[in-house]
This record gives sequence, C-alpha cells and structure tokens, in this order.
Amino acid sequence: MGQKVQGTEDLYGSHMRAWQRMQDVARELFGAYGFDMIETPALEQVDTFVHGIGESTDVVRKEMFRAFSGALLDGLLAKGSESGLKPRQRMALRPEGTAGVVRAAVENNFVPQGAAPVKLWYAEPMFRGERPQKGRLRQFHQVGVEWLGAPDPASDAECIIMLMEYFKRLGFDPARLTLSINSMGDAACRPAYREKVRSFILDHADEMCEECLERAEVNPLRAFDCKNDYCREVMKGAPLAPENLCDDCAAHYAQVKRYLDAAGVAYAEDSTLVRGLDYYTRTVFEVEVAGSGVGAIGGGGRYDGLMELEGGKPTPGLGFAVGFERIVLALAAQGVELAGEEPSCVYVAGTSADERQAVFVATLSLRQAGIRAEADYQGRSLKSQFKQADKLHALLAVVLGPDEVAAGMATIRDMSTHEQVQVPMAELAEAVVARLS
Ligand code: HAM
Repeated sequence: MGQKVQGTEDLYGSHMRAWQRMQDVARELFGAYGFDMIETPALEQVDTFVHGIGESTDVVRKEMFRAFSGALLDGLLAKGSESGLKPRQRMALRPEGTAGVVRAAVENNFVPQGAAPVKLWYAEPMFRGERPQKGRLRQFHQVGVEWLGAPDPASDAECIIMLMEYFKRLGFDPARLTLSINSMGDAACRPAYREKVRSFILDHADEMCEECLERAEVNPLRAFDCKNDYCREVMKGAPLAPENLCDDCAAHYAQVKRYLDAAGVAYAEDSTLVRGLDYYTRTVFEVEVAGSGVGAIGGGGRYDGLMELEGGKPTPGLGFAVGFERIVLALAAQGVELAGEEPSCVYVAGTSADERQAVFVATLSLRQAGIRAEADYQGRSLKSQFKQADKLHALLAVVLGPDEVAAGMATIRDMSTHEQVQVPMAELAEAVVARLS
C-alpha cells in the first residue's frame, strides 16, 4: 500500500472545509483592503529563493526541496554534482510565497516606476524539508499577502491591523494572541549593527555553541534564535536592533507604533525578533497564541530591498503569511472548529426501482436550482435511503412513489419534524427552495 510522505497531509472532509474557510475569510477581508489573488508556480528556479530568502538562511541551506527531472538526475548522479546545470535547470519547490510573488512582479512589471502600489494575496502549499512534528510539516499551507510599492509606515500598520483582524474573524480570542514587533534597520544601518553582533558573539565565543560561532560569520543575527539556553542567556547582553537604527529607520518604526496605538492594536516590542528570512528590512512582526504549543501562527515584515535582489528596480515591499495547519491546531485548543458544520442537502428517494427515472429527473431539477441534491445509486430500500439521507445531513427528502409519479406530484418530507406536503412536480424546485429558506 502506498503511503504519504512523512510530514504531508491529505486535505479532505473537515480539514478541507477549514482550508476553504481560511480562503473565504481572506478573500472577503483582504478584498476590502484592496488585495487581489495571485498564484505563482510551486516550482521556481533555485536562484529566486537564493537571491530573495538569502544563501545563509536555514530555509535555503537545509530546508529547500530541490527538484530534478528524471532525465537530468541520471546525468547528475553520473557526475556526482549539479555544477554543470544551467540556472534554469536548478529548481526547487517553493519554501515560502514572497520570493516567487516578487519574482513574478519583476518579470511581469506589476509595479512600473511611479505607479500605484500592487496588493496581492495567495493561499498555497509550501514545502520545507524540516523534521516533522506537531505544527511543523514538510508540505504545509499558507495564506499570505504581498504589498509592493508602498514605503509609508501606514502600510506597515495597516498590514498588521489586517492580520490581527484576520485572526479575529477566524475565531481567535484577541486577548490570547501575542503580537511581537521589532525593527531590523535597513541597508544604511543594518551592516554596522550586524558587525556589532558578530563582534559580540566572537567576544563570547567560549560561552556559545558551535553553530552560533558559525552564524557569527554567515548570519550573526540568527544567534538570537538559538535553541540552546546558554546561548540565549549570553545573547540577552547583545546589542539590540532598535538601539542601532539610523534616524530614518527609527522615525519609521516610531510612526508604525503610533499608527498601531491609534488603531488600538496591542503589541509587545521584542528587540530580539529577527525572523528566519534575510530579505527583511525595518518592521518585522510575528503572532503567537498563548499556550498553543505550535509556535508562530503568522509573521511578516517589510522587505524594501527584495525587488532589486530579484532583478527589479528599487521598490519597497511588505507582507505576511499565516500557517493553516498551526491555526487549525491553535483554534482547536481553544475549542473553536474552523471547518464549521458539514454541508446539508436534499435527498430524493424513490419507493421502488420503478421510480428511478422520476428520481433522476427530480434530482437534476433541484441541482439546476442550485440545491445540493443527493439520491440513491445502489438500489437501496426506502428505509436505507432515509438512513443515507440522515448520514448526508439531509434537511428535506423528496419522496417519489408510483401514485405520486402517476399524478405528476412529489412529496416533500421535513427530515427533523417528519412533516410532509405534496407539491406538483413542475413546482418542486421552487417549493424546496422556499422551505429551505
Ligand atoms: P514564515 O514565518 O517563514 O514567513 O512563515 C509564515 C508562517 O507559516 C509561520 O508563522 C507558520 O505559521 C507557518 N509555517 C512555517 N513553516 C511551517 C512548517 N514547516 N509547518 C507548518 N507551518 C509552517 C514566511 O514564509 C514569509 N514569506 C512571510 C512574509 C510574507 N513576509 C513578508 N511577506
């Protein structure tokens, strides 16, 4: 028997309904903020992610699923290296959505210079080669937004406000959500800050783990996220980003906070929040649910240099993404079922095989009127058809017997009260619609 890959899930039933609900709520809310939907390919050239997410990030170094066609793989195995491959032959499954959307924006010129900002949202599977555990999958689903061409701190605040409203509409109790924010500076002030953190780590080399020493060289800010308690303890004394911002970044951060205050959005400033993707500049944020044990349910920030890294003109950008699987787990822990109720239907039953043709016609007429209608396809007895109707959450049953069919009538039965009425077959759909509403 075939088995799914570890860390992947089949989406069906209530899980699928929950995923659809996340998209419905996103479409409505993000639409009100002027966002349109986009879908980019799950398969991109490796360079799109290396340029955007950053060569030194865990996502690019360790977690990207690389993809090769069978024909290419033979050659690769023979050579023992991919060094002979052209850039377009090096592909990976997307580990996140931002790099691909920005690549698409550059390639399709979504934001010509001087044009109004472009606002896009997506709901897509992402792939990361992580060790599977609760809330950490290898194929997971994100709903995300990318807003390109807006440098104004109001856009940072609006993005965060929209994210918190999204969580509220999905059923979270806002009091249990923690929104952490930070500013990571920009090309003007971050290099000097990075260097300060690097020196700090090297000054404390004998107190920190091997990995942090390696990080000091490739990506010192990631040391703030080290899992080792002793490294975390040392990093408590490290220089903090907000104290090392240039004037422009400091003013931007202060203004974002003023907007959030004005909107009544509660936040905690976390000066050690650095995020795992290299493209961020200035504002970064993350949301956790107290006591859920699933880590961040969403995060994002500004990435003013990313369009250039992907080969475009300088264009500011920002966005966020939330994780579907973690949201379902965190909501379930609060007793909230994201999926909602199973869909109901109208069941068309025939008293014997002789009524099959009439059942066929009646079922089609209901579906034409937009009603979810079901019937028997296995030659069941009337009793079993009613049982099946209950299983399918039928609100009404349409019962067709020889007398009804001969008279051009149909019986509509209310499945909970068992009340019955007869209506002319020609008015069936209309009568059912009236009863359902
Ligand atoms: P991220 O923080 O890497 O950001 O991922 C966003 C969310 O995806 C996380 O908060 C988490 O809920 C979910 N997630 C991440 N990895 C996994 C996993 N292995 N299993 C289950 N859920 C996971 C980004 O991806 C950025 N692209 C967000 C962004 C958009 N920044 C700007 N624009």
